[in-house]
Amino acid sequence: MNILMVAAEYAPLAKVGGLADAVAGLAGALARRGHDVRVVLPCYDAAAAADAGFRRRPGPPIPIRVGQRFLAVRLLERARPGRGPRVYLVDEPSVFGGGVYAYGGQASSSPLVRAGLLAQAALLLPGCLDWPVDIVHAHDAQAALAPVYRRQWFDGPALPGPAGTVLTIHNLAHQEIHAPGAVADLGLPVPLAAFPGLLEFHGNVNLMKAGILAADRVNTVSPTYARETITDPAFGCGLEGVLAGRGAAYSGILNGADYEAWNPRSDRALPAAFSAAAPGGREACRVALRSELGLDLPADRLLCGFVGRLVAQKGLDLALPLMERLAGDGFGFALLGTGDAALEQQAAAVAAALPGCVAFVRGFDDALARRIYAGCDTFLMPSVFEPCGLGQMYALRYGAPPVVRRTGGLADTVIDAAEPDGDGFVFDDARPDALLAALRRAGHLWEDREAWGDLQARGLRRVFDWDRAAAGYEALYMAATGVAGGDDDGGR
Ligand code: GLC
Repeated sequence: MNILMVAAEYAPLAKVGGLADAVAGLAGALARRGHDVRVVLPCYDAAAAADAGFRRRPGPPIPIRVGQRFLAVRLLERARPGRGPRVYLVDEPSVFGGGVYAYGGQASSSPLVRAGLLAQAALLLPGCLDWPVDIVHAHDAQAALAPVYRRQWFDGPALPGPAGTVLTIHNLAHQEIHAPGAVADLGLPVPLAAFPGLLEFHGNVNLMKAGILAADRVNTVSPTYARETITDPAFGCGLEGVLAGRGAAYSGILNGADYEAWNPRSDRALPAAFSAAAPGGREACRVALRSELGLDLPADRLLCGFVGRLVAQKGLDLALPLMERLAGDGFGFALLGTGDAALEQQAAAVAAALPGCVAFVRGFDDALARRIYAGCDTFLMPSVFEPCGLGQMYALRYGAPPVVRRTGGLADTVIDAAEPDGDGFVFDDARPDALLAALRRAGHLWEDREAWGDLQARGLRRVFDWDRAAAGYEALYMAATGVAGGDDDGGR
């Protein structure tokens, strides 16, 4: 199939969070399965793009209307595309300059203008390339206008190929909600914004909602999160009814992890290599991590790792108040992350109060993250909600049985130690005492090194690969092209 992906992030070119890894992982797997995959994303930094081998595509600029203006937009492509997905960057510094979610301070550089321009450029690309497109696959709210424009503007012969549309929701908490007047920036008929239905959302404009309604198929990144978002307003963030209304056209497909990039047998960031078959090197990783972070713990003490954005979603605020008590019980903590200033301060204060027991490194450091996965004894992921999550998959693969809350992708990937195939610890309530009980269960099992070794070995062997996920998307694409061809109305 000819598949066009539209996204605001793509690893490693433009990465803020898991979205970048997910889009790149899926695009790569689909390309390996023989599909022609093209990815469109904004050019946030022309110099970095040039360093990565991008050049201007020959030919005249493409005129695209944004609000009352026409912009002459250039597309960048790799001079030597190589194998795998082909990437196209939409180069318009007045709109995309400034960074992935940091805007350049110009009036034209707003999230809405960005979304409008990205989606239009993406839909014009198949025509420019003379490339019949089977599927337009948009990721998250920043790309959600692609299916909307496809319905409103591009229906008919303008787009070569059937161009069925899919919207993947990576995080429903970010919907792109804007004042109703902003719709003029989108070049869509103004009555559409007010029309209760497509773009209108409690008097405002909501891009995610419009994408959910316009796309032929909608999915999110785990089956459990798909269920949670239609049954519980805390997860649906106001869109639970809209999602439920799509019926069988809304589903969950679990993400994969990139096991080539995340392999403790060949990971250059680690002081020693190990694997499920030869786990011996892990001990050296444990010892080295403690000394790197200045943790002064008896060798047999259980060290909990945490790597992630310091935002409410990740639930670190459940764990921080417990650390003093747990340090008294012999636990240690290795925390890495950056995010909300208040959480950063709280983490720093706990580390300062418990030197040698709690280490906090503020920042994003890929190599240290890998050493934490490989050197901690258990990995904390007490997320309040988690559409899929990657950390728990890396932790399993790096021999750190995860302690997770039973939500979203965490519920779909980690099996509690009480089960025959257990590889981690799962707790239900988003309350410190529930997390405490799970950590104590981990501490208890830790005393029985043979049982712990079995738990760890099962995790080391679990595989959540992108190939399996890609097969799920192929089925979704078939359904979506059927819809685009007029077979059913997919719950609309
Ligand atoms: C978002 C979600 C995360 C998911 C990722 C990739 O970052 O918060 O749970 O794994 O997207 O789909």
